[in-house]
Amino acid sequence: MNPIHLKTELPDAQVDALEKTFLDSSAFDGDSIAEDVVAYKPNGEVLFKLIRNVIPMSACKKAWNALRTVSSDASHRIVASGGATQGENGVSETVGYLDRSGRHGLHYCRLTSWSMNNAKRFAEAIPFFRAADRVFAHHMPERHKAQMAKVRATDPAFIVHGTAFTTVTVNKNFQTAVHKDSGDLKEGFGVIACLRAGEFTGGEMVFPKYRVAVKFDTQDVLLCDVHEWHGNTRIVGTEGMFERISCVLYYRTGMTQCLSPDKELKRLQNRKVIVVNGHRRGITQEETSEGEADAKPSL
Ligand SMILES: [Fe+2]
Repeated sequence: MNPIHLKTELPDAQVDALEKTFLDSSAFDGDSIAEDVVAYKPNGEVLFKLIRNVIPMSACKKAWNALRTVSSDASHRIVASGGATQGENGVSETVGYLDRSGRHGLHYCRLTSWSMNNAKRFAEAIPFFRAADRVFAHHMPERHKAQMAKVRATDPAFIVHGTAFTTVTVNKNFQTAVHKDSGDLKEGFGVIACLRAGEFTGGEMVFPKYRVAVKFDTQDVLLCDVHEWHGNTRIVGTEGMFERISCVLYYRTGMTQCLSPDKELKRLQNRKVIVVNGHRRGITQEETSEGEADAKPSL
């Protein structure tokens, strides 16, 4: 695999200022990289590895059929959508499992709503997720091992079976503004696989600090440091005539807290509703010892 040794091209203050902005080809030098390559940061760490033509096409086709039905508007991702309003910038759906993150007010570990409502489709995408996991294990064995240690400490009901992942963010026709990923395991690594249909250009992934961009296709896997600032170039094509689906596969840090699904549900059912500073809030038994002084039961 060809090595590339990158230089820091923008000081941190300038890169930080790019947060929530959209990038174009002026943010990187030369052409975007579209070959098997390992790109190193100046400190010797891997920024990304692109492994091309490695996922079987049969798994890609099944996954594309299943995952193209995702529909959650990407505007809920405030930074990554660039502050887009409803309908302005693609789809971003969470597939697999979520921790007690409280998104949508749900403080328990659970199957995401898309996965629950599309169980057959979720199952059809599993060979694709597993193939990406095998590439991850082969090319970043130490990071994969660290992720698997967390997987083994997690209830198997919350693991994408046969992988090092709990969760997959599925983006469709979504140009991300400059952001860093959060909620994923720091000692793991970003795993991205793309499914493309129809004719379009753009959608390259840019790392502005190093003024480098990478372009990837169906069957490719991009392993990358998603804790560096990154964003996509605009996806350009005839509306309704193309689909660019990117899947970001990760272990969600909060999943280590999860009990079994039954116990998670019981914990939720046993919560009390209290009023804190005038706001209704659900608390679980383990929280009742804290903050009860300024809380009173709600009718
Ligand atoms: Fe990202």
